[in-house]
Amino acid sequence: MNRIISPSLLSADFSILKDQIEIVKNAGAQRLHIDCMDGHFVPNFTFGPFILKAIRKLTDLHLETHLMIDNPSNYFDDFISAGADTLIFHYEASNDIRKDLEYIKSKNIKCGLALKPETDYKVLIDYIDVLDYVLVMSVSPGFGGQGFIEDTLIKMEQICKLCLENKRRDDITIGVDGGVNLSTIKRVYDTGVDVTVVGSGLYKAENIVERFNELQICE
Ligand code: DX5
Ligand code: ZN
Repeated sequence: MNRIISPSLLSADFSILKDQIEIVKNAGAQRLHIDCMDGHFVPNFTFGPFILKAIRKLTDLHLETHLMIDNPSNYFDDFISAGADTLIFHYEASNDIRKDLEYIKSKNIKCGLALKPETDYKVLIDYIDVLDYVLVMSVSPGFGGQGFIEDTLIKMEQICKLCLENKRRDDITIGVDGGVNLSTIKRVYDTGVDVTVVGSGLYKAENIVERFNELQICE
């Protein structure tokens, strides 16, 4: 898998959510990125499994669910039964990362680990055998529309290399989340990652379909 855009619903207009999902699906999106924030792990509050369940009813797209919450394992079952296809929690929030990754996998969905910009990529080494997805944060988690942190580009390359060296590059999807837009997307993909999460850089465009196409061909 490579060069996949995952539209982040955080920047969508929730008063017309069905339309906003259909627009990106018709433009060619295969997955959606869902940001769940608890007001503790990050200084912002969004929504939980109840809304994910409603989104699930609206679409058959792959739902990658990004938990920015404390004690994530307390809520895994709720998010899994609400319809998450990939469930991503934060390295910085979990007390037992291996156990949490294995639990999610045991439920026959993909498990993912997100790293804040300041977290060293080497923390992934211990879990490289079990990971399905790595989410590299290129902004501090919590809000859409922030500026891209350039330093994280090196980390993206390091993570691609790490997966390759461990013969896991074909099995692990590497995603990048935050500040991806027309001016940064090429440099992000050039590091070798597979998925770019795009929120404001897509949904705030005047013409969302046009922007999706522009992002896709940004060479
Ligand atoms: C930030 C979220 C992102 C957010 C990205 O904490 O995890 O998924 O939607 O938004 P943009 O693309 O606007 O930076
Ligand atoms: Zn996210």
